Amino acid sequence: MAFISNRYTRLIGIEHPIVQEGLGPFRTPKLAAAVSSAGGLGTVSMPGMPVDIEAGARTFREHIEECAALTDKPFAVNIPVGVDRDGVVLPFTDVYIRTVLEARAADSGIAAQLRVMTTSAGFPGRYVQLVKDAGMIHQHKVGSTHQAVRAEEGGTDVVIAAGFEMGGHAPSKAVHTFVLIPSVTEAVDVPVLLTGGARDGRGLAAALAMGADGVAMGTRFITSVDNSDWHPAYIQALLDAEEGDDVAFDGVYGPCRGLRNAASQSLLDHTAGDGDEPMGEVELVRWKIESMQRAQTEGDVTNGLVLAGQVASAISGLIRVAEFVPAMAEEAANILRRLAANLDAPLVDAR
Ligand SMILES: Cc1cc2nc3c(=O)[nH]c(=O)nc-3n(C[C@H](O)[C@H](O)[C@H](O)COP(=O)(O)O)c2cc1C
Repeated sequence: MAFISNRYTRLIGIEHPIVQEGLGPFRTPKLAAAVSSAGGLGTVSMPGMPVDIEAGARTFREHIEECAALTDKPFAVNIPVGVDRDGVVLPFTDVYIRTVLEARAADSGIAAQLRVMTTSAGFPGRYVQLVKDAGMIHQHKVGSTHQAVRAEEGGTDVVIAAGFEMGGHAPSKAVHTFVLIPSVTEAVDVPVLLTGGARDGRGLAAALAMGADGVAMGTRFITSVDNSDWHPAYIQALLDAEEGDDVAFDGVYGPCRGLRNAASQSLLDHTAGDGDEPMGEVELVRWKIESMQRAQTEGDVTNGLVLAGQVASAISGLIRVAEFVPAMAEEAANILRRLAANLDAPLVDAR
């Protein structure tokens, strides 16, 4: 088996620079454990923003404990950060970050495995130090070079650079990975992961060629036999998606990518001012989150929001995570070796 060992894999203590990134507001403890057991880094996702924050925190903790029980390898948690207009972190984020720290403090086994906290959306400010003081590695997802530099200045250990083709909440500036990643890797010194559009060893090799240290994927891992917590209709909708079937609509934290259906169309209509009943801001956010969860738990892929990356159009079969992760690393290593060997070959005289 080929290994791509680099500063990222050494920092986290994993075999392959392949991450299953946060997929909230959905259940991912089983998927996360499968990816971690396969030598990558799995991520337990935030279970949404229920009205009862404490109930959400209890669910999050249960998911962390479930993941820890299923694997003995390192894993991560993802917390999308809510901030107010002055950049102050909102109460639900505070509760979720503290839930993670409490889960680690209460169980030395969990503390040893749950090494990484990935934040996204807003920047968590002073919480970065709190997370690092607790002995965790902090990763932050960004959508621009400017945000990457600010995240590094704010103490982040790893930057995840997100291109506009990604599934779920996408950057507010529509910059795609091919443009964004070289700019980010040039601008920061910390390890960088590419997120958005990767699906196999070719994506990993390309990310490494652009100066990144690994890839973080969502859509590819959703479409796996290990993702038994999600409704089969959701997974099938991703497998059936063709080029042009995805669209960016107004999500909870800015643009969000998912499949075209009645739910995403109603949001597009709403944004264009053509909707039926105008909803209040809070009501609309709740509708969006409930609509996402309806798709995932009930399989309502028509009236539910089906978040997915553009790469869904290039995915037509399910993977088995245990085989897929090492095979993806091996494919990337082989591509890089082959390219390097080609460089050494003498130029053919075409005359
Ligand atoms: C269904 C779904 C839910 C997602 N939820 C989150 C989330 O809660 N937090 C987050 O940071 N990113 C979230 N994302 C983005 C993923 O973590 C990842 O960055 C993205 O899927 C990468 O693009 P790809 O789907 O092309 O691999 C979500 C993506 C999808 C498809």
